[in-house]
Amino acid sequence: MEAQNPREQLRRLRDELHHHNYLYYILNQPELSDFDFDQKMAELQSLEAAHPELDDPNSPTKRVGSDLSQDFEQVAHRYPMLSLGNTYSESELQDFVNRVIKLAGQEVAFVCELKYDGTAIALSYQNGQLVRGVTRGDGTVGDDVSHNVKTIRSIPLQLTGDCPNDLEVRGEIFMSRAGFEKLNQQREEMGEARFANPRNAAAGSLKLQNSSLVAKRPLECYLYHFLGDKLPFDSHFENLRAASEWGLRISPHYKLCRSFEEIHAFVKHWDTARNELPFEIDGVVIKVDSLTLREELGFTAKTPRWAISYKFKAESAFTRLRSVDFQVGRTGAVTPVANLEPVPLAGTTVKRASLHNADIIAGLDLHLNDMVSVEKGGEIIPKITGVDTSERLPGSTPLSFISNCPECGTPLMRIEGEAAHYCPNTAACPPQIKGRIEHFISRRAMNIDGLGSETINLLYEQKLVNTIADLYRLQVQQLVQLERLGEKSAANIVAGIEASKQVPFARVLFALGIRFVGETVARKLAAALGNIDALLAADKDQLLAIDEIGDKIATSLLAWLESEDNRNLIQQLRDFGLKFEEEERPVAQSNRLEGLSFVVSGVFARSRDELKGLIETHGGKNVSSITAKTNYILAGDKMGPAKLEKAHKLNIPILSEEDFLKMIQA
Ligand code: IVH
Repeated sequence: MEAQNPREQLRRLRDELHHHNYLYYILNQPELSDFDFDQKMAELQSLEAAHPELDDPNSPTKRVGSDLSQDFEQVAHRYPMLSLGNTYSESELQDFVNRVIKLAGQEVAFVCELKYDGTAIALSYQNGQLVRGVTRGDGTVGDDVSHNVKTIRSIPLQLTGDCPNDLEVRGEIFMSRAGFEKLNQQREEMGEARFANPRNAAAGSLKLQNSSLVAKRPLECYLYHFLGDKLPFDSHFENLRAASEWGLRISPHYKLCRSFEEIHAFVKHWDTARNELPFEIDGVVIKVDSLTLREELGFTAKTPRWAISYKFKAESAFTRLRSVDFQVGRTGAVTPVANLEPVPLAGTTVKRASLHNADIIAGLDLHLNDMVSVEKGGEIIPKITGVDTSERLPGSTPLSFISNCPECGTPLMRIEGEAAHYCPNTAACPPQIKGRIEHFISRRAMNIDGLGSETINLLYEQKLVNTIADLYRLQVQQLVQLERLGEKSAANIVAGIEASKQVPFARVLFALGIRFVGETVARKLAAALGNIDALLAADKDQLLAIDEIGDKIATSLLAWLESEDNRNLIQQLRDFGLKFEEEERPVAQSNRLEGLSFVVSGVFARSRDELKGLIETHGGKNVSSITAKTNYILAGDKMGPAKLEKAHKLNIPILSEEDFLKMIQA
């Protein structure tokens, strides 16, 4: 063979190894022995070591991961990652099919797929190269887990054939039953805690900070959803087939169905056949085949109208009910939780189960020590679904709901039409106070770094914090005096609290923890009313006129807003400078940054959102990953070492927050 230059030699070796990976991990038809494969890999490794200038981020050697730990960067999804509506009932499935056919006004083809029980991933391929992998996150923004994703052998680093240049692929990362068992066995031997189920193991592994550890986890991936302007076919079914040709791992178990009967047969088949699969599925997903029709059908607030998941009934087991605890949540709702004789169920040992509310207990006519059936659905905590009264022990007493709060002793109340009992002592019941603060600081709410539930507990016990507003009164001096808190962590907490004053109105509204006001409702309220004064002045009719707000939410909101304590709280938070108004769309301030692209990474005095906003209002562009085309890195504290290394390698100038502010000054 002719002597080749190193560039050519590297290209050839890499292509060859990509191909053998494909044969092994995607087609399951290896042509090389393990030994020969390892030899080639070693050859590539030594050639790469000799030529660092010819590095390729998608080289097959990158599958082993890196020891660098990473702070995941949060990146916005190009297309929101929605979830699916689901049902357990065949008649609802039939309703879905009928509804689609009616809206389409003609016969409709559906694709039925398995519903893999793992964790969702969005992969971006540019010109056939894998450029990024992002978790679902909150559906709008997810974690960039590219380094980890690259260690998963069934995710191709580069595509072959006639794939679109710009392609986003969605799929599920999961662990096979065997992989899960082996991992848990290893963990037990090392004295580490077992994972509860393959789904948790997969999700936990994907979020590990050290990608060389991820490389050792038995993760797999199936892909099932494609996005991009240039997909080859209008038919999802055809696109699935095309995607296999590009080297993507598509499960062989999908079917084109043209009637409810065919769909029903698919569902029935997999309800039993699932036990023979090497991995877990929790249902079947039924999707409209035509992309055009999908577009016409559109979306509800959270889910597409063109797809539904049919979930299989959960597995169940019998065991004895030992006792019941009553837990008080942040809204004061009291949840009964059953303590059970440990019983194995669907791969885990179940010791506790939710009993939801008094009606459920009464409906089941539960007695202490009853033999109960427990089911594990999608929820983490299983539930009790029935009682075997023939096994009831003589003289056992019926379970009754408590009448006073187990935490503060206040008599419980029940709001008409609602199932839950509440402790009305909002202002002084400890788990409510602490729970509200925990919710307020949580990532999706005010996202205040450095504070966890332990520190909040401490702050509460030391009487430093009793309401959300008290957080904004905390001083470094006071915090330093707490156990376990150093000067630096104390300063971080105070800086984090200060930075939260930039959090947009909608999230502040969500952070207040008003019952039934979740993220979506908070966003709708903020968009419709614009500011807190309008909300304080709104009457029920006005609230009901807002999209997604029904009677239950409106009533809860009005009750919350009426309370003197809550009005007081809002006033205090306002005085501290929190945002109680929707921001106007930013107007251009200058074109000083025109044509320049920035990667913002790390922790700053200002919030990252604010800095990104400044980049845009001065004509620049925010990009999420560093490439040779990036003009500047705006780097704060704690920027991940992997990024820093890349920036140095590509010689990209690194700006501090101060440098950047100077840059945009007139
Ligand atoms: S399609 C817009 N197909 O189920 C719809 N999802 O509850 C895109 N999942 O977030 C999703 N198997 O993580 C789709 N064959 C499949 C799936 C599937 C599992 C997961 C996915 C999604 C969740 C929805």
